[in-house]
Amino acid sequence: MERLGRCFCVRHRDKNAAAKVSNWRIFSLKELHSATNNFNYDNKLGEGGFGSVYWGQLWDGSQIAVKRLKVWSTKAEMEFAVEVEILGRVRHKNLLSLRGYCAEGQERLIVYDYMPNLSLLSHLHGQFAGDSNLHWERRMKIAIGSAEGLAYLHHYAMPHIIHRDVKASNVLLDSNFEAQVADFGFAKLIPEGATHVTTRVKGTLGYLAPEYAMWGKVSESCDVYSFGILLLELISGKKPIEKHGQATKRTIVEWAAPLVFQGKFNELVDPKLKGNFDGSELRKIVQAATLCAQNAPENRPTMIEIVRMLKGEAVEMVSKSVNGHHAETLELDVVKYDEQLMEEDTNSAPGLTTFGEAAANQHKLTKVPS
Ligand SMILES: Nc1ncnc2c1ncn2[C@@H]1O[C@H](COP(=O)(O)OP(=O)(O)OP(=O)(O)O)[C@@H](O)[C@H]1O
Ligand SMILES: [Mg+2]
Repeated sequence: MERLGRCFCVRHRDKNAAAKVSNWRIFSLKELHSATNNFNYDNKLGEGGFGSVYWGQLWDGSQIAVKRLKVWSTKAEMEFAVEVEILGRVRHKNLLSLRGYCAEGQERLIVYDYMPNLSLLSHLHGQFAGDSNLHWERRMKIAIGSAEGLAYLHHYAMPHIIHRDVKASNVLLDSNFEAQVADFGFAKLIPEGATHVTTRVKGTLGYLAPEYAMWGKVSESCDVYSFGILLLELISGKKPIEKHGQATKRTIVEWAAPLVFQGKFNELVDPKLKGNFDGSELRKIVQAATLCAQNAPENRPTMIEIVRMLKGEAVEMVSKSVNGHHAETLELDVVKYDEQLMEEDTNSAPGLTTFGEAAANQHKLTKVPS
């Protein structure tokens, strides 16, 4: 009961938070069956590490996305409801609204607003990749919007929330291509005994901060690291890990590092943009990515600082030294994953690369000396 009190503590101190009206509630299983045509295969939007997501329509005509968890243990029954209530009360223009949940019998379902433009992943590498919807202005708007959503989670939501799985499939896009960060705090909801446990490393290889991958150390700065990778992906259209040649794979950082160091920022830009981009904004994004993706978590900026940088408000940060170098010569830290770990990567498929015990992975990650 004491913990239940927490769910009323979500306070909003950010001016963008009040814009959304809370219509959070508990759904019945019957209602969700009817909304999704009995979880019909035709309604399926996709599948992630926790289960399948279905499109649905409620009796009032509003469109929803329903995430049906595939693994459940009854142990953490109360925990689930409390944590989902906390997440459900978080409101911000760049955070995907959670409309409620359903907990009946063995079924656990989470209900969200449906996002008509699906995920950033689908526009960069998926079904919309050929459509050229992501012109430069939109990419910039998505970068700033998703940074604002994360800054809100880290600094304004009470209790503060660490996302733990920042990646392109968790940045959804509304009808105006405004970023809506999804699945924040979700990893924490999965109880012990299920596939994902908080003490284990969960995430997608390529986005993982080194200290998280090696020791399972979770903090806001893990999200900052992942956000840096997301920025590189957003401007380049490259995946965090890509096939390089026949047998080897390469991280986006390994690919970008020499270009960044040589100041060849234009070569980082997605060829699909056909040269249509703003050079000074590009520089800001590259600087932000370089700061975010530093190996040492204590050197990474906060998401609030990143928002200010991307908006061009943090001039002092831009001129601050990065990795001991003056910002004129930017340098990306490179982490090289063990080949076996790279083999396990399934980044072309939806879903997660889930690691075993974090400690067991220590040997699999090595820092490349710069
Ligand atoms: N509210 C939504 N509106 C539209 N599409 C959605 C919504 N929520 C999820 N999806 C889509 O459903 C698919 C599955 O999402 P899900 O979150 O389960 O997996 P994921 O993001 O790939 O991995 P993870 O389990 O780490 O979040 C994704 O392609 C996602 O873009
Ligand atoms: Mg997701």
